[in-house]
Amino acid sequence: EIKACIFDLDGVLCDTAKYHYLAWKRLAGELGFSFTEAQNERLKGVSRMDSLEILLEIGHVKCTQKAKEEMAEKKNRWYVEYINKMDQSELLPGVLDFLEECRENGLRTALGSVSKNAGVILERLKLQDYLDAVVDGSQVSQAKPDPEVFLKGAKRLGTDPSACVVFEDAAAGIEAARRAGMKSVGIGDPGILCQADYVIPGFEKFHAEMLDQWF
Ligand code: G6P
Ligand code: MG
Repeated sequence: EIKACIFDLDGVLCDTAKYHYLAWKRLAGELGFSFTEAQNERLKGVSRMDSLEILLEIGHVKCTQKAKEEMAEKKNRWYVEYINKMDQSELLPGVLDFLEECRENGLRTALGSVSKNAGVILERLKLQDYLDAVVDGSQVSQAKPDPEVFLKGAKRLGTDPSACVVFEDAAAGIEAARRAGMKSVGIGDPGILCQADYVIPGFEKFHAEMLDQWF
């Protein structure tokens, strides 16, 4: 029986995945190569520095550690410009209703994101009161597909991992859920999220009772 829902942030609760993509694409452009949305799938759920490594590999760019740190900082400045303009209208459809349903059905809720910007985003979206625990990039040392972020979430909720379901838009996140011994629901493309237990297009037509039927 499912007792808790753990949500990824970027691309699950809000469409910040597109802002990450735009900022990385801009960096790639400055470095002189193109960067497609298909290539961007590899960066989803991956930490900032690991994402940069993948981007540089795609562009066949070699540089010093110091240059890498400057690039990551630059990308983050562009990304922060986007998120500072966000408001509640950028919550993905059905998210708020589903979070309310979790409350009504006694399901515990947690955020499980490796983003260091998660706090700012939750504030801008006014989501703090809907989450019983928040685990973000400031509290974990391993990015997805490592299960650390989700296991920490379960621990904070006091829920056994086997009674948790993870909502994720990234292949790395689905893998992390599996390694944590949790159930998973992919949000997005079933082709990309083929390891998930179930895949849905979004929360719009999704209800808590589905969890009882499925798991
Ligand atoms: C999430 C996103 C990634 C991002 C990572 C770190 O996992 O899916 O695309 O790279 O967070 O985010 P940050 O805001 O710390 O750069
Ligand atoms: Mg995501």
